[in-house]
Amino acid sequence: MADTTTTYDVVIIGGGPAGYNAAIRAGQLGMSVACVEKRATLGGTCLNVGCIPSKALLHASELYEMAGKDFAAIGIDVKPKLNLVQMMAQKAESVAALTRGVEFLFKKNKADWVKGLGRIAGPGKVEVVGDDGRVTATLSAKNIVIATGSEPSGLPGVEVDQARIVDSTGALSLPEVPKSLIVIGAGIIGLELGSVWRRLGAEVTVVEFLDRITPGMDTETAKTFQRSLTKQGVVFKLGSKVTGAKAGKSDVTLTVEPVAGGAPETLKADYVLLAIGRKPVTAGLGLESVGIVPDKRGFIDTDHWKTSAAGIWAIGDVTHGPMLAHKGEDEAVACIETIAGKAGHVNYGIIPSVVYTFPEVAWVGQTEEELKAAGRAYKAGKFPFTANSRAKVNHEAEGFVKVLADAVTDEILGVHMIGPDVGEMIAEYCVAMEFKAASEDVARTCHPHPTRSEALRQAAMGVEGWTMQA
Ligand code: FAD
Ligand code: NAI
Repeated sequence: MADTTTTYDVVIIGGGPAGYNAAIRAGQLGMSVACVEKRATLGGTCLNVGCIPSKALLHASELYEMAGKDFAAIGIDVKPKLNLVQMMAQKAESVAALTRGVEFLFKKNKADWVKGLGRIAGPGKVEVVGDDGRVTATLSAKNIVIATGSEPSGLPGVEVDQARIVDSTGALSLPEVPKSLIVIGAGIIGLELGSVWRRLGAEVTVVEFLDRITPGMDTETAKTFQRSLTKQGVVFKLGSKVTGAKAGKSDVTLTVEPVAGGAPETLKADYVLLAIGRKPVTAGLGLESVGIVPDKRGFIDTDHWKTSAAGIWAIGDVTHGPMLAHKGEDEAVACIETIAGKAGHVNYGIIPSVVYTFPEVAWVGQTEEELKAAGRAYKAGKFPFTANSRAKVNHEAEGFVKVLADAVTDEILGVHMIGPDVGEMIAEYCVAMEFKAASEDVARTCHPHPTRSEALRQAAMGVEGWTMQA
């Protein structure tokens, strides 16, 4: 294609949740907008190799395990047989349908998808580079929004070959169920994808540097979570660091050392998943042409989504804050509304997190540790799912809901839940907290019976000490 110059109000680089939502909102607000995306499909990490395919496998593997382990107790005798090819195919179909859906939304909102690698070539100018390295288009932009996302972090001595040593992308498409899988990193990716393969039959060992799992999660909740995963058969080696990995034809040999010092040991597994975090993508983006210098970890600093260069904005995983699709989406809306002269706003204190394992873990706001460190006096109300009728009749009564509220004003400061479906229910508390609700507001709100959501109300009652059903 010949190089052509087109002028837009907004040019977005990256078509993930941050970039595609920015494109849609800009189109809605009547701006001319283009989104440059180098992948063959829109949707970024999230739709292609992240949130969506992982949840497709989590859902399917959960049903597989339930059919084999839990159905008989409720009077359904079946012997499930795994069809991994079909499980992967249904995952791929969901991904294809959703990425096509984003393409449809672009057309609906008159946002142009410019295929290729985007590179900033000075103020107000984005060049698009094709697979052959040639510039295929030059876009002139009143505003440039960087939404290039993130990629898996590497570990010296552990070379990801996507065959025996995989990152999250490889772990979404293993060709067989491993007999044994070692996961490096007890974070969200390691525990979600580790759960998938354990349910399908792998022996899973998780090697974690820290002496706890899921840093950032409320400690009491994380301990309960670890106990639950251990009961399911996941083996944890905490306080351990991997110093090397050697992939053979049919297995991998790992050297692992205690962080506190001591003798190294050798572990062997069919496959290794490296999941020790993600890093921002800015290489080759031409940031130097506009004087933007990423911080030491590669993130682009922003103030209300504005970078240090006039007319250039950054949103999503490439900027600071939690690396979550909905955080990127919120920033997209706020950034575009700010560009349009409206009052863009993101409440960073109320961005929920969910781990989609069984049981799920969901939280929003501050942890007990954060409140203690800040010297904030708080009261806690807690309710176990063993006392919730719906959880009981479904034979899924593991976990609890914990509500933390200001000791004086009763404003809800944090909510931490572990149990089936808590990922769906956390939004109730997000809304409550956006309205600066007191725990009493939730405690006095009628909830339908019998639902798990009643546990959310009972935990709120507990803040003032009048939980009725436990
Ligand atoms: P990305 O989604 O990474 O998109 C950036 C896009 O920019 C990519 O498509 C990339 O190809 C493109 N790009 C980069 N550079 C250029 C360039 N120079 N030119 C053109 N295009 C470029 N988050 C959740 O909230 N919930 C989940 O359940 C969840 N599950 C996850 C599971 C896994 C396995 C992984 C890996 C991540 C998961 N995440 C989840 C995180 C989520 O995927 C990210 O937070 C989210 O995708 C970030 O959105 P983004 O738009 O900032 O970046
Ligand atoms: P993570 O940051 O969640 O966890 C990484 C873990 O690896 C930490 O526990 C860390 O202590 C450990 N670690 C770091 N270096 C190590 C080493 N050398 N050896 C052993 N352990 C080491 O990162 P993860 O799991 O890779 O996920 C990246 C991000 O993707 C998440 O933080 C999250 O933002 C996003 N994500 C969100 C999901 C969701 O919302 N459900 C699902 C999957 C990913």
